[in-house]
Amino acid sequence: MSIAVENSKTVENLLAAFEGESNAHAKYTAFAAKADAEGWRGAASLFRAAARAEQIHAANHARVIKQLGGEAKCEIHAAEVKNTLDNLKTALAGEQYEIDTMYPGFLAEATERKNNAAIRTFHGALEAEKTHARLYGEAIALVEARKKNAWVGEARAFYVCPVCGYTSETPEEHERCPVCNCPWDRFETIK
Ligand SMILES: [Fe+2]
Ligand SMILES: [Fe+2]
Repeated sequence: MSIAVENSKTVENLLAAFEGESNAHAKYTAFAAKADAEGWRGAASLFRAAARAEQIHAANHARVIKQLGGEAKCEIHAAEVKNTLDNLKTALAGEQYEIDTMYPGFLAEATERKNNAAIRTFHGALEAEKTHARLYGEAIALVEARKKNAWVGEARAFYVCPVCGYTSETPEEHERCPVCNCPWDRFETIK
């Protein structure tokens, strides 16, 4: 199977998103280990939950790439690991880029092409990244204030939608995922 000409730009965008998500997964996993080593165990939990969500995004993008006749592969770069505060800021900047620039652009292109599978995977990722940006923002404020007695200081659970990667700090925020409608009882608990 080869890629139809009219889908080539959409596939190119899906591959870029696949690479971004795959590398975000690797980076957050490395940041989690560093946060644990520094005693920011709740921040480590958040990095692990977000890493799981990015893995879900990568798998969703890969599925659509294959449907369109492409091959989902990319290079994983070694993550530059700094201290946890800097790592949180790096993570937030990455999420913000995806929310403000990358996914809106990719969504516009997929919408123009009326490619529903691409629209769905980009939209799910975009909305999930907003939950990551919010949680990273909270964590930055607490780590910056050295609040080791706040949630960032202690290992904790986050809840990740297995379909779209929506990430919550609340065990029962809604009955269903507000992004993709997946039943909340199917959410994964990540610590
Ligand atoms: Fe994210
Ligand atoms: Fe979801």
